[in-house]
Amino acid sequence: MNNKISLLYLATALLALLLGMLFGIFSGLQYILPEFIKEILPFSSLRPFHVTSVIAWIILCAIGGIYYYLSNSDGPRLYSNRLSKIHYLLFGGIGILIYYNYAIGNFGGKEYLEFPPYLILPILIGWLLFGINYYKTMAGKVKDWPVYYWMWGTGIVFMVYHLSEAYLWLHPDMKNNFIKSLAIQWKAGGSFVGSWNMLVYGTAIYVMAKIKGDDSIGRHPKSFFFYFLGLTNLMFGWAHHIYIVPTAPWVRYVAYGISMTEWIILFHMIYEWKKSLPESAKIKNLISYKFLVMADAWVFLNLILALLFSIPAINFFTHGTHITVAHSMGTTIGINTTILLASVLFIVNQIKPNFNLSQVKIGFRIFNISLLLFWLSLLIAGMKRSYWMYFTKGIPFAEMQSQTHWVYVSFLLFGIGIFIGLLLIVVPVLKIIGGTFKQGKQMKLITNEKS
Ligand code: HEM
Repeated sequence: MNNKISLLYLATALLALLLGMLFGIFSGLQYILPEFIKEILPFSSLRPFHVTSVIAWIILCAIGGIYYYLSNSDGPRLYSNRLSKIHYLLFGGIGILIYYNYAIGNFGGKEYLEFPPYLILPILIGWLLFGINYYKTMAGKVKDWPVYYWMWGTGIVFMVYHLSEAYLWLHPDMKNNFIKSLAIQWKAGGSFVGSWNMLVYGTAIYVMAKIKGDDSIGRHPKSFFFYFLGLTNLMFGWAHHIYIVPTAPWVRYVAYGISMTEWIILFHMIYEWKKSLPESAKIKNLISYKFLVMADAWVFLNLILALLFSIPAINFFTHGTHITVAHSMGTTIGINTTILLASVLFIVNQIKPNFNLSQVKIGFRIFNISLLLFWLSLLIAGMKRSYWMYFTKGIPFAEMQSQTHWVYVSFLLFGIGIFIGLLLIVVPVLKIIGGTFKQGKQMKLITNEKS
């Protein structure tokens, strides 16, 4: 296989996922045992550790997949393996620095990017290297790009733009104006998510096309409509994140409409693909197929939740409760993580087609059930909190928390279920990736000895 760095990306991403979930479980434990390891890792540190690790999982897995597909498909060949190596070392080094800063309590950033602000500079350099490598690979070499190439290319460019924008708050003009600073922070944050969605949704369409062995889904007008809708959402969809900021109402309605339509189209595309897929193609990539179908179900569930809580009258009651957390974890686990696992398992199936799936299948079932119950626990916790905030008087916070105790316990147990399910999937995958590296080294030794 070409470009082993892509596999290192995938292995690092999977390790970040496991580590991120452990931090999530520790955070959940502090919901019910507030003193648990509080002296070493308080909730204020655990949360950024958790969120940064799972975002690293999503981004590194998407990048690793793109490097792999560009290096190993019949289409374009990656312009430079060396650039991809430098990119990996840079991101690896930054990752260690971020963990170190969190461990010593040195924050200084804002929501989702809580590390010291100077670290954004090497991160931007990494994205620029990725962009140069991508466009040098593609420009002039591929005719009539299928939609996934457009999505990846756009995701990279907008990632650079929006990550830079996310630091505008450092400018005194923004820093001293609360409304401006809040609006720009949420705008950039929403578009940052939109940019990684371009990489992840592009990956979903790529994997669907390759499983079916038919690229027409990548060239279909519906796919391009989805792309332009996603792009509009990336640029303007942030407005549905800032209901509390006083902006013109029409801006929110347009943003809301676009984000909901985008999900309806994605749901429809996966559904149509599933219906038209021949049985033999399903069997050949069974587990990737199952993950894509699972992603479709989660698009549907999140769509219903988002349709409801984006109605301003309902949003008023849900804002700041665990219903918002159910939305962000429901989408990052239910949609992003499942699509990316479909991609990793598709790659592993190419490397080792006779890979034993029994453990992965058990993991898939445990993950699937736990995620649904985990998500429902968050919704119940959110509703209880909202009821306490708006419909009761004089009940102290501690009493409300103790009444919600059993909900937090179930949240934690189902979180552990997600961890166990994913562990059963990730460990065999990591073993295969490790085995491919060993084989590569042995081949090199044999070639060196012969020459
Ligand atoms: C694939 C795995 C996971 C992903 C992608 C993920 C993603 C996220 C994200 C994006 C947030 C931020 C929510 C927000 O700001 O609204 C979050 C918060 C959180 N997650 Fe996860 N998560 C994962 C697994 C878990 C697991 C297994 C647990 C275990 C109980 C967990 C517990 C938590 C907790 C306690 C918070 C903090 C919520 C708060 O602020 O009160 N997560 N997660």
